[in-house]
Amino acid sequence: MCGIVGYVGKAEAVPVLLDGLRRLEYRGYDSAGVATLNGHGIEVRKSVGRIAELARVIGESPVHGRIGISHTRWATHGGVTNENAHPHYDQSGKLVLVHNGVIENYQTLREQLEERGHVFKSQTDTEVLAHLIGEAFERNGDISQAGLVTAVREALRQVIGTYGIGVLHSALPGVLVGARRGSPLVVGIGKGEHFLASDVSAIVAHTREAVYLNDYEIVALREDGFDISTLAGSGVSFQVSKVEFSAEDVDKGTYPHYMLKEIYEQPNSVRDAMRGRLSPEEATAKLGGLNMTNADLRSVERIILCGCGTAFHAAMVGEYLIESLAHIPVECEFASELRYRNLPTDRDTLVFVISQSGETADTLAALRESQRKGHRTLGICNSVGSTIARESDGGVYMHAGPEIGVAATKSFTSQLTIMTLLATLLGRIRYLSYAEGLEILANLERLPALVSQTLELDAQVAAIAKKYAKAPNFLFMGRQANYPIALEGALKLKEISYIAASGYPSAELKHGVIALVNEVTPSVFIAPRDAVFEKNVSNIEEVKARKGPVIAIGTEGNDHLDKVADEVIRIPQSPDYITPILASIPLQLLAYHIAAELGCDVDKPRNLAKSVTVE
Ligand code: F6R
Repeated sequence: MCGIVGYVGKAEAVPVLLDGLRRLEYRGYDSAGVATLNGHGIEVRKSVGRIAELARVIGESPVHGRIGISHTRWATHGGVTNENAHPHYDQSGKLVLVHNGVIENYQTLREQLEERGHVFKSQTDTEVLAHLIGEAFERNGDISQAGLVTAVREALRQVIGTYGIGVLHSALPGVLVGARRGSPLVVGIGKGEHFLASDVSAIVAHTREAVYLNDYEIVALREDGFDISTLAGSGVSFQVSKVEFSAEDVDKGTYPHYMLKEIYEQPNSVRDAMRGRLSPEEATAKLGGLNMTNADLRSVERIILCGCGTAFHAAMVGEYLIESLAHIPVECEFASELRYRNLPTDRDTLVFVISQSGETADTLAALRESQRKGHRTLGICNSVGSTIARESDGGVYMHAGPEIGVAATKSFTSQLTIMTLLATLLGRIRYLSYAEGLEILANLERLPALVSQTLELDAQVAAIAKKYAKAPNFLFMGRQANYPIALEGALKLKEISYIAASGYPSAELKHGVIALVNEVTPSVFIAPRDAVFEKNVSNIEEVKARKGPVIAIGTEGNDHLDKVADEVIRIPQSPDYITPILASIPLQLLAYHIAAELGCDVDKPRNLAKSVTVE
């Protein structure tokens, strides 16, 4: 949620830190700060607001140094103020710290520290970490890298909660210490310089060699190297990973917003989700990362699909697809609920957790709870090397590339594509014939072209968005696998335009929702030409009879909707398992253009963070 960037090397730290913070700003953005060491003690600059504001503050009062830490904050404990912005000092004023995560026992720790004479300047949970580490460092009196690492270890042993931290001490102007539990941290390896970041996108402009830290690991970085150890004090063998994307991939290019860029990347991202995974010889999908043989998959009696927000909507589509193509009972569950439920499951239940970031706290907790119960638990993630990707028993990478816009777009259609691959694979070892498998593959091969064709609707959708942008509420409706698409359309609109929007199965209209229909509440119906088309039309007519404006997503070549709807957006004809992917695109564009029309901050909507790493 918050972002951390640290640097030690030969260059001036501040430009590296500010550039990294800008790239992480999408993750949390209510205040920010930097600290550097330059041989004359610690220099800190902070500001409330965006990174641009911090840059202005630094412009007016520059700070220098070849080592530094920085942070962009999304408030959890304590209001949005300069005092609460990170970095935080310890009691001596010689140590500074930045922190992502939540310290659950901070009140107790703070009271204990206060009894020992410590004075706090902020209302954050973070400040206790700085005080605890500083206190241990002073007490031990070992002014060396090992001494600072030991102090970090001693302090963190007292802490309950989650953290990713960066620490500097003025007595050690060449050492930057990081540690993690539950909040991601990655080390970037450069030539004569090293980086610490909560997300690799912050440092990819400088290096593509990275080491992802595991929970309970501590790293000490210097210009000329780094050492990793555990909280318990033992050494660690680590793997250097090659970052798959480049700095250009995390730039907006010529697009006004990341969200629009990512919407337009979807022909490629769905292609990348399928790359190497279609096997015409066997008329099936290949998902080697599941680490399961066909015999293993054949013994699966039940599937649980779980995630949060958009990923949960993908799970809901997956439920329809797997049930219809593979006839396996599927249950979808919010990760935040699954982690506390005592779901009756049997031995042959397979669990999938879906997460773009691979770091969502609830989804990670659901993964761990499911594994604890002895279930094979697989991850469907976008971020390579993320905690969920590493901790799951196998899985499928989305390969969508970095998604910076806070509203998930391309990751959603990649998740739907993977759900189709999974349903095909499971179906082919159960009920689907060779010919049916081949037909699905042929349709999936056409998918990138169909997505491109659907993007051509942009101008029409933009005009519709302009017309309805001032509406106070929206309703979204669809049936079968397009019901979750209605939910997703409503979520996108809410998130970035702040317009109240809700999604329903179309037929639920009569059971209450119709009370909301009036002349100023547009109803968006996903009504492609499918087995329930006529049913959707009846529901549309019910809305029209009450003078509600209707925007319908229909199918090319089907004119029937023109008679009943005010606006008709036609997506290409496609089989039922492809339609949800195509129908998502005009809904993403509708939300985008309405938000842009209203002047909203599309990529950084208020109160939201891209990756929710706290419960
Ligand atoms: C919606 C959105 C969120 C995320 C949710 C899960 O646009 O971005 O609802 O989908 O927070 O995030 P991941 O997929 O990273 O676990």
